[in-house]
Parts: sequence; C-alpha cells; structure tokens
Amino acid sequence: MTYMITTSLGQSAQLVQRAKDFAEKLNVPYRERQKRSLGYFLKIYDGVLLVYDKNLIFHHRDGSQLAFHPDTAMLRIKSKHDPLVELIGRESLTILDTTLGLASDSLVMSYAEHQVTGLESQQLIHLIVSQGLQTFESGNAALDAAMKRIRTLCIDSLTYLKNQSDQAYDIIYCDPMFSEQINESNNLSGLRPVANYSPVSNQWLREAKRVARKKIIIKAHFRDTVFEDFGFRRIIRPNQKFHYGVIDLEN
Ligand SMILES: C[S@@+](CC[C@H](N)C(=O)[O-])C[C@H]1O[C@@H](n2cnc3c(N)ncnc32)[C@H](O)[C@@H]1O
Repeated sequence: MTYMITTSLGQSAQLVQRAKDFAEKLNVPYRERQKRSLGYFLKIYDGVLLVYDKNLIFHHRDGSQLAFHPDTAMLRIKSKHDPLVELIGRESLTILDTTLGLASDSLVMSYAEHQVTGLESQQLIHLIVSQGLQTFESGNAALDAAMKRIRTLCIDSLTYLKNQSDQAYDIIYCDPMFSEQINESNNLSGLRPVANYSPVSNQWLREAKRVARKKIIIKAHFRDTVFEDFGFRRIIRPNQKFHYGVIDLEN
C-alpha cells in the first residue's frame, strides 16, 4: 500500500512542520496541501494521512477512515459490567495487550486501574493511536488520565515477547485480526487496509506462556477455532459474537 502525509486545508507553519516530522518518522512522502482535495491525492496514492491541529485521520482509497476516538471504550466503561474487566478481576495487574489496534480494550483495562502496555506492529496505526491517547480531551479527567497511562510500543508482539524475562507481566491479552470480527465490526473497519493479519502461532503461545504469570486471554469470533486449536478455555457469552478464551497459568 502506498500512502502520503499532508495537512488539513487550514495549515499553519507549525502544522506543516508536524506533518513533515511524521513523514520523516514513517519514511513516507510529505506533500504540500496547496488547497488540493483529498480525491486529488487519492488518485495517486492508496491512502492519505491528514494532520490536523488535534487529530490524525488516515483516509484510504476504499473509503475507510482510521482515527483515534475513545467512544467504544467510553460506552463499555459506562456500562459498568465489562466481561474483559470481570475476567481479569479487581486486583491491579500488569497487562500486556499484544494487539493494541484502536486501544479500546487497552483503555477499558487502564481505566480499571491496570498498568497496560500496548503493542502495535503497524507504524501508521501506532502513530495515530499513540498520539490520540496522549492528546485526546474527552472532558472526563479520569478517562484522559487512563489514556495517558497506557504505554504503547510499535513492535511485533513475538519479537517483543522473545526479549522479555519469564513472568514479566501478570496478563497477556490478544485480539487478533484474523477472526471473522473484521467483517462485522464497523469501528474496526479503518484498520482493515493497514493492519497486521498474522495469526496466533505455537511459537507465540510458547513465548506468551513464559512471559505471563497469571493468564493469557484471547478474544475472537465465536466461530473461530483458535480457542480449541490452542487450548483456551472458552468463556461462552450467549448471543454475543465474540468470546473470550483463557489459559490459566497459576494452577
Ligand atoms: C483486532 S485489532 C485489535 C483491536 C483492539 N483490541 C481494540 O480494542 O481496538 C488487532 C490489531 O493488532 C495488530 N497486530 C496484529 N498482529 C500483531 C503483532 N504480531 N504484533 C503487534 N500488533 C499486531 C493489528 O495491526 C491490529 O491493529
């Protein structure tokens, strides 16, 4: 996929500099906006990352958009009973989210007072989401603090796991792309053209079992065979499209 970076139409010298800095960081072209439309650039590139004062939005030629927003996490936080939070329990734990994506799961866990490190292999996703977590102002101080507490790293999870000591995290969490969820979840549609689709492997699970102290938790579509293929205890959620699976490491 080819993509470039430019600014919103109202561009200040500061914004131009930010866009240039991101372009250098991601090693992709920066193009002057010069009042040209998004459509103009999308005839040349598959995608355009637009840099706004307080936001980054990636537009793909297929019409999808990727931006950070804590909406989904906020709804879950307000609902009071979140199955992932309930599965983890009340004690404050260290959690490695190996599939950061839009950081909804990370944010829900961080808001519940866990110390969350989120890994994302794709530079573009990592840039948009890590900037969003640091700068988004939701009007809710506790939520903003939970966003800022999440430590994010742009790295492939297997590479990261291999470099961790035994039992470095209490929980390892994984919500991979390869299950059917991607066709059924609109808020993840912006990830589709730019995400990493690597499935769970035996090598990944071996490393995760070494690095986690308490549990490995996976989320996948209810029809996904990943639960049985890799020995996760399935937590059935009646009438829900996604199930969680758990490997307990303490007993
Ligand atoms: C289904 S999404 C995760 C959504 C996330 N749980 C949320 O709440 O927004 C999967 C994300 O993990 C990333 N990913 C997939 N495989 C990865 C790997 N091996 N290492 C790091 N990130 C990975 C994908 O690029 C994608 O952004």
